[in-house]
Amino acid sequence: MTRLHGDESPSRWLASRIADQPDGIQAIDLACGAGRHTRLMAPRLHVLAIDRDTSAVTSLSGLANVRVLCADLETSIWPLNDHKVDLVVVSNYFWRPSLSRVFDLVRPGGWLLYETFSEGNGQYGKPSNPDFLVRKGELLAAIPPGWIIHEHWQGLIEDPKPAMRVRLAAECR
Ligand SMILES: C[S@@+](CC[C@H](N)C(=O)[O-])C[C@H]1O[C@@H](n2cnc3c(N)ncnc32)[C@H](O)[C@@H]1O
Repeated sequence: MTRLHGDESPSRWLASRIADQPDGIQAIDLACGAGRHTRLMAPRLHVLAIDRDTSAVTSLSGLANVRVLCADLETSIWPLNDHKVDLVVVSNYFWRPSLSRVFDLVRPGGWLLYETFSEGNGQYGKPSNPDFLVRKGELLAAIPPGWIIHEHWQGLIEDPKPAMRVRLAAECR
């Protein structure tokens, strides 16, 4: 069977942050892959799961509380123009030109939870292309005025394997 991106266990950091969110809110899982975080959220939250990979989103359609959207997030046409939600989750995906649009998806009172690879990761493995790696302080610098930063961390993790990572939990005000 073909393995989809992200069909392993959910990120422990994201799982703990998602657990703090209230029941029944609207969430987006951006570049959801096989949907490990969509599946985690769906028992409690309403999730829009987005990916350009048809097989990824198809595997999620039919789950209760989940809507799927097969769309390219890297063209001039942003597919989420009319969307504002309470929670945006981004895991292991980064496309610099769309970063401000990701923040725009969050409605006031809502949260962005972002966890992905950061610069320097190439010495440990993939991704190594700087286009897909968050520069030092880049997420912080992109936060719109007035947001509350609940957590920001960027550095080396050892577990499950060495990688340069960044985590951001921020709230739109
Ligand atoms: C490394 S996987 C991460 C999947 C998931 N977020 C997770 O952590 O389990 C990256 C995902 O980004 C998706 N992706 C890459 N480029 C994309 C694009 N231009 N538009 C939409 N999705 C894209 C891929 O299809 C893939 O599912």
